[in-house]
Amino acid sequence: MLVSSALAMEANPPTIITIFGITGDLSRTKLIPALLRLERACVLGENTRIIGFSRRAFSPNDFRGFLREAFSAEIERFDADVVERLINRISYCPALFDDAHAYATLGERILDMERHEFAECANKLYYLAVAPEFYHTIFLQLANSGLTIPCAGEHRWARVLVEKPFGRDSATAEELDLLLGKLFKEEQIFRIDHYLAKEAVQNIISFRFANALFEPVWNSRHIDRITVRLLEEKDIGSRGTFFESVGALRDVGQNHLLQMLSLIAMEHPGEPSAANIRRERARVFEKLQLAHGTLEEVARHGQYRGYRDVSSVATDSNTETYFRLEAEINNTRWRGARIVLESGKALNTTLAEITLEFKSPELCIASGRRCHHNNSVTFRIGFDEGISITFWVKKPGLGNELEARELSFSYRNEGEHESERLFDAYERLLADALSGDQTLFASTEEVRASWKFITPILHKWRNVPPQEYEKGSGGPAR
Ligand code: BG6
Repeated sequence: MLVSSALAMEANPPTIITIFGITGDLSRTKLIPALLRLERACVLGENTRIIGFSRRAFSPNDFRGFLREAFSAEIERFDADVVERLINRISYCPALFDDAHAYATLGERILDMERHEFAECANKLYYLAVAPEFYHTIFLQLANSGLTIPCAGEHRWARVLVEKPFGRDSATAEELDLLLGKLFKEEQIFRIDHYLAKEAVQNIISFRFANALFEPVWNSRHIDRITVRLLEEKDIGSRGTFFESVGALRDVGQNHLLQMLSLIAMEHPGEPSAANIRRERARVFEKLQLAHGTLEEVARHGQYRGYRDVSSVATDSNTETYFRLEAEINNTRWRGARIVLESGKALNTTLAEITLEFKSPELCIASGRRCHHNNSVTFRIGFDEGISITFWVKKPGLGNELEARELSFSYRNEGEHESERLFDAYERLLADALSGDQTLFASTEEVRASWKFITPILHKWRNVPPQEYEKGSGGPAR
């Protein structure tokens, strides 16, 4: 009896999630809805409590109203009692991030929950859903307050989740890392890149390493070019303050685009453990370098017309809202293949995809000469997740002409059931952080190596204003 009740307890250990910046955009649009879905999926148990820590002066009633609003897009899909159950376990702590007293209050609230609600010490997850400029302060305050020391020996854990971008360049990322290294152990730190948690991104290594058809030709002998693109029609909207402090390359280049590339380009990890997979991703970044050519050819950046009118954006801002990089991976597998990384806001299309273009065959069956026909494999990451492969077939009729055809797989076409199984990235990240699996989080080595590639480009752009482009266009003219 004692044993089974202990096991039941362990299946649902007391856990307190504190979200710094709970009233912000990220929290409202991604985290809070993800918590509701996890509640329904029973990932959050009755022993989970959530504390919101933010600057807004909300009364408990205002806060409940705010939560209901954030749940509104999801609410129809859920029973009212799931929503109520979760709301009853979320409380609010209005506070400034640099106020030591606020951390003392937070500590008292946590202690109170442990004493009176659980009668034992709890696991603690701290989620920093705040602008990067607050990381330093929050890390220090958290560590000084003793809130991140695991309790009950090693039996209960304390973990810190931090959003990208982690640092502004090599120097600041290293500084943050040194600080983090002093305050926490690596297994306590979860650096988020939500692209890694997208179903279609995780599928890349399964596709590569489970299909003998592709792996033998997955190299620069057969592949001419790898293009990774994250293009968006939406503009900066109300995110002027955040965007002005980062720019497109730090916002999505140093993380989402590079992580997609790493899964396409990495070596087989052997045993698929978090340590092995993270090590192989980091190795790709270590060998990544800009292609040879002028800055204009290999590292273009642009800004859409009208960006400077956005609230909180400087009227003479040189922040890039678009970039296109040409690179290469200097290792045996990829030397000679061209790598293109492109992203932008306020463009004429919205897509997130990776395309591998294969080289043409030496001799063409149709003409007996070298031909231009080449195959491609495209991974669609955003809307309509799936994979397409183009290949050539003989056109029916007289003659030997060829035409392109496509083999396509889409998760969405697999019917309601399959697409239901597509976990949202934030759901997956929260679930993995709770279970302690770091595979989908960036390691120190990955962060360090990715900044080593990105920082020199940012330095070069300091003296080169971005090229202007029209909203709704394909980006700056060449
Ligand atoms: C975020 C960036 O990390 O990713 C945004 O800050 C970007 O600027 C977003 O729009 C794209 O993610 P998704 O999941 O909407 O494709």
